[in-house]
Amino acid sequence: MWPDHRILDLFGIQLPIIQAPMAGSVAADLVVAVSEAGGLGSLPCAQLSVQQARTELEVIRRKTSRPINVNFFCHQQPRDNPPREMNWRRRLDAYYVQLGVDNNTVVLSPNRAPFDHKMCDLVMEFHPEVVSFHFGLPDKDLVTRVRKAGAKIISSATSVDEARWLEDQGCDAIVAQGYEAGGHRGIFLSEDVSTQVGTMALVPQMVDAVKVPVIAAGGIADSRGIVASFSLGAAAVQIGTAYLLCPEAKTSPIYRRALKEAKDNETVLTHVFTGRPARGIVNRLVREVGPMSDLAPDFPCAAAALAPLRAKSEMAGSADFTPLWSGQSIRLSRELPAAELTKRLAAETLAKLTLPRIQAFADDHLLAQAEALRR
Ligand SMILES: Cc1cc2nc3c(=O)[nH]c(=O)nc-3n(C[C@H](O)[C@H](O)[C@H](O)COP(=O)(O)O)c2cc1C
Repeated sequence: MWPDHRILDLFGIQLPIIQAPMAGSVAADLVVAVSEAGGLGSLPCAQLSVQQARTELEVIRRKTSRPINVNFFCHQQPRDNPPREMNWRRRLDAYYVQLGVDNNTVVLSPNRAPFDHKMCDLVMEFHPEVVSFHFGLPDKDLVTRVRKAGAKIISSATSVDEARWLEDQGCDAIVAQGYEAGGHRGIFLSEDVSTQVGTMALVPQMVDAVKVPVIAAGGIADSRGIVASFSLGAAAVQIGTAYLLCPEAKTSPIYRRALKEAKDNETVLTHVFTGRPARGIVNRLVREVGPMSDLAPDFPCAAAALAPLRAKSEMAGSADFTPLWSGQSIRLSRELPAAELTKRLAAETLAKLTLPRIQAFADDHLLAQAEALRR
């Protein structure tokens, strides 16, 4: 039925649709809905403590026995750099004054700790069928433990070099993250985002370069994108932004409003929110301080000084300091429950894939008739 069965067989799922892990926006309900619909639901753990991740996994395992993906960041934690922090604070000083926020206010920003042995203990305990990483792979001993837990391992690549590297390290499949993608770029072999590749060009070059199945991601939000991904050689798709308007997503009201109002040319790659490049909707902070700034501390430290500003302006209903992660296909999202969205995406894709086959059959028939008449 589907043109490529490799990911379906590898993960034990029915539909070649992976709901992207989206830290801060996805919790158990969305994961359960997508996995129950036959796709692969993904739980992002990058912003969760071990206890929070455990709670989500308990809910998921109670509500579904279908395969799931559990996702982690695996960056190097930067060393403390007080002078850099100070300069960043100074750059933001005027906003503190304007919003009437005390300079010494500390608002806890999300965890964003890299995958470690404590998180790995959870993997050993809950046995997710798939574990995915962003920003490369963790240390070898952690990868070995994840594999021992029986999980298939995947990670994002933003270039052919990164895809080859991941394959060499033993990844079972690779997410080809095109330039259109919302959220953080998974880039890890380089820091130069100016040469990052779009999904249309990235997927076929990656498919030619590696033997493991490639999962297309970035700007895919409806059946047209899924059909195109199969044509490019992908074995499945990973879809993020299109799930942000589902009622099960943790997308806040101001974030939802921004997603509904923004246009195709209103997202940008910026690193001012966290210190790492990510695609989001342009807002005041991005316009006035970014999209890139030499002053932003390394990932994830840039977020700490912004947290009080974000909290205060969100209380006033403003998204001026909120990261509004979104991919470029922002206008293609539909506000549907996640299971319905997943099934509709699959059904509409199958209809598009089947019609040309019927057409081709009809054409063969007509050609045979014409040939017979000529004889
Ligand atoms: C709000 C948001 C948060 C994201 N957080 C994560 C994350 O925690 N882990 C991860 O591997 N990818 C994350 N991504 C990237 C997605 O995995 C995927 O590459 C991207 O959503 C695909 O592009 P699309 O948004 O155009 O569908 C995030 C994307 C978005 C939009």
